Parts: sequence; C-alpha cells; structure tokens
Amino acid sequence: MTVQHDLPAESTTPDGCPVSSVTETPTGCPISHQAAAFDPFKGDYQVNPADSLRLARTEEPVFYSPVLDYWVVTRYDDIKEIFKNPDLFSAAITLEQITPVSEEAIEILDKYDFAPGPTIVNEDEPIHTERRRALFAPFEAEAVAELAPAITEVTNEYIDKFVTRGQADLVDDLFYEVPCIVALKFLGVPDEDIETCRQFGMQQTLFTWGRPPAEEQNRVATGMGQFWEFAGGLVERLKQTPDAPGWIPHAIRVQADNPELITDNYLQNIMMSGILAAHETTTNASGNAFRTLLENRHAWDAVCEDPDLIPKAIEECLRYAGSVVAWRRMTTDDTAVGGVEIPAGSRVLIVTASANRDETMFPEPDEFDINRKNARRHLTFGLGTHTCMGATLARQELRIFIGEITRRLPHLRLVEDQSFTYLPNTSFRGPEHVLVEWDPSQNPIPADRP
Ligand code: HEM
Repeated sequence: MTVQHDLPAESTTPDGCPVSSVTETPTGCPISHQAAAFDPFKGDYQVNPADSLRLARTEEPVFYSPVLDYWVVTRYDDIKEIFKNPDLFSAAITLEQITPVSEEAIEILDKYDFAPGPTIVNEDEPIHTERRRALFAPFEAEAVAELAPAITEVTNEYIDKFVTRGQADLVDDLFYEVPCIVALKFLGVPDEDIETCRQFGMQQTLFTWGRPPAEEQNRVATGMGQFWEFAGGLVERLKQTPDAPGWIPHAIRVQADNPELITDNYLQNIMMSGILAAHETTTNASGNAFRTLLENRHAWDAVCEDPDLIPKAIEECLRYAGSVVAWRRMTTDDTAVGGVEIPAGSRVLIVTASANRDETMFPEPDEFDINRKNARRHLTFGLGTHTCMGATLARQELRIFIGEITRRLPHLRLVEDQSFTYLPNTSFRGPEHVLVEWDPSQNPIPADRP
C-alpha cells in the first residue's frame, strides 16, 4: 500500500471539513491531506483537472477520496492498464449517478417508469462486444464520411448568420446546436423532434456526473423522466419506418433478426444515452479546441496557413484539453493499481485528463504543440474494448469546424479578459461560452463582408 501517510491514524479533521469522520481508506490506511481535500465538484479540479492532480501524479498517483468514496487514478500507465483489463475493471457503473439520488427524486423517476439499463458503454463482456459488433455499421469510416457534406453545409449555414457581425459566442452560435443536429441525424431522429431532444440534453450531465443540490435534483429528475418517456415514444415511432437512415433504425433492424440481443428497453436506453454520447462531448471538444487554438496564436496561424495540419491539431487539442476528463470503473476482485491495494467492489475514477499530461508519456506535457508526435495516444476517447465508437464522427466534426472557420474567419480572436465557465461535474468539460471578435470588413471572402 503506497498511499501517503501524512495524517496520523488517530487524527480527526476539524468541524466544517468535508471528511471529518473519515480518516482511513477502506483498506485501513490513513488518508493524506491531499486526498482528503480532493473535491472534483469545485476548486482546482473544476478550473483545470489535469493541473489539480499534478502533485498527485508524482507523489500519490493512486489515492482514496473520501468525498467521493472512489479511488482516484492519475497516471497514464495505470489508467491504460485499467482500460485494457475489462474483466477486473467492470464498466457497469459508468452511468451511475455519482451523487446519490434523493428519495424524492427517486419517486419522481418512478412516476415515469424510468428504467435505465445496459447501453453498451456500461456493459461487460461477453454481451458488450456482441452488441457493439451488431450495432457498429453506422460508425464505420465510410458511413461517417457520407455525412461530411451535410455537416459542412449546416456548419456554413450557422457561420452565415454571424460572419458579418464582428463578434460571436462560438458555443451559442455554432458549437451547441450543430453537434446536436448532427447527433440526432446520426441517431435517425426526425427533424421535428430535434428541438425537444436538444432541450433534454444538459439535464443528463448534471444528473449523472454532477452534484445537484436537493431542490435541483427534483427538477433534473423530472427532466430525466420526461426524456425517458420521450425516448420510448420516439423509438416506437421509428419502428414504423425501419428502413430510415440512422443508428436507431439500424438497431431496430438488428432487433428484428435478434430480438433477444436488442430488446425494447435496450433501444430506449441507447436512444437516450446516444444523444449525450454524441452531442455534449463534441460541443465541449469544439469549445475546448477553439479556446486552446486561439490562446496559442502561433498554432492557430499555422493551421490557417496550412489546413493539412488540422488533423494533428485536433489530436493535440483532445490531449491538451479533452472534453471527457474522467471515466469510471468498478473492481470485480481484489487488485492493486500502481502498487496500491484496492479491494473488490471498489469504485475507481480514472482521470484521463491527468493521464494526458503525464510527462512519462508526453514530454513537456503542458506545452501545446500541434506537431507533437504521439498526441494521438491521448486517452480522451478511452482505450480497449469500450473505446469511443463515435471517435471518427467527432474528429470529422472538429475537422469541419476548424476547416470552415479558419477559411472564413482566420483573423478571429478571443475577446480579452473573458472568464470561462464550466458545468460542475466530474467528467464532461467544455467552456459554456467562447466569445470571439473580428473585423468583418477584413473577411477574406468578399461575399462574407458586410
Ligand atoms: C470529442 C467527442 C467525444 C469524446 C471525448 C468521447 C469520449 C468517449 C469515452 C471516454 C467513452 C468511454 C470509453 C471507455 O469506457 O473506455 C466513449 C464511449 C462511447 N462513445 Fe464517445 N466520445 C465522443 C463523441 C462521441 C460521438 C460523436 C458518439 C456517437 C456518434 C459517441 C458514441 C460513443 C459510444 C456509443 C460509446 C460506447 C462504446 C462502448 O462502450 O463500446 N461518442 N466515448
């Protein structure tokens, strides 16, 4: 056991401290001040998760957090080992509410017959791979490439709305809506339902990965219940047009051949979780990428001059400022991670943002370098059996956003002195707003000038 023993075993923290009654890990070791102070819902972790764990990476790379009742893992090699060992590190808890749901919120959810179940990302082997294979066709590179012209078109329609304005909020004006439209098109949601699905999105992040106070839990639970009901209705309607394009119609066709593999409950679950998987992750990745590129002007200018650099720039953005910063697993047996013993049944928070800044993997990890040779080895999409199925689509969207904006607005700059805000939660990270400005009379394409 290598957890630091900074606190004497008998010491208790003073009143008002978050861990006053807990001084030991579940394996009986005293908890360090650093581990006791770790709180991913506020403070340093919310500002910059990788930076907040800088000391942990060198001094205490695996530690128990009493605030969360999770073991926190911070180093690249340890996290890679966890991802590559799905039998020992079960994915079953990945969509569990990290904040226990109140009795009242449970009653609200019951009213909607909310029945969250397996949905690929939280399934274990062998059923996980069986379903993943059966449902993969729409994620293949060729199928995703077919969506590129439509994504480029809708992106330009949105840019048209602000290109002569001289200022914009890239999140409100582009990155929130376009990835949502793309996600829903990908799933096969009809146009008339897109707005309703959009409204439900954010509730899900707060519900699963946030720490909503009691009164907010009821509001969020109501939103989740309504979303669940809506997702079920949508699947029923899509069953009337099984030949339609999109992932859910594809899954409906798989169900026709193999109803035991893909049940109705499973369809409802992938409908609901698919929206979150595809939308907010990409919205956040886009906000992070543009903030990072514009803060590193040399990189932005290089990409404007040579669009062939875009794919490398995307990988470095995903490494440096990923939109998924932490993921979860549960141990199925007693084990050790980085030399720290972890009992069976423990919850583990794997902070991929920290792994992505691990200097043993990425030299000068805090440098943003679009020519970094191994940037693509970041863990932002996970690794192993559960690696993100939508990575090709996400990369394609980022390519189109960066390609079109650097082409039409290369002189874009961040509004000075803006403060970036983030939705408080453990795992999904992207700025709520990215304010930019430019001189529209200097737009390089004459038709884009006022
Ligand atoms: C930049 C954007 C995205 C990021 C950072 C991201 C990240 C992730 C992560 C961390 C996982 C879990 C990996 C694991 O457990 O090992 C995952 C799984 C998944 N993602 Fe993404 N994702 C993104 C975009 C998308 C998109 C656009 C879609 C759908 C079109 C999508 C669909 C999925 C699915 C279906 C899974 C479950 C895969 C499995 O468990 O086998 N993701 N993603």
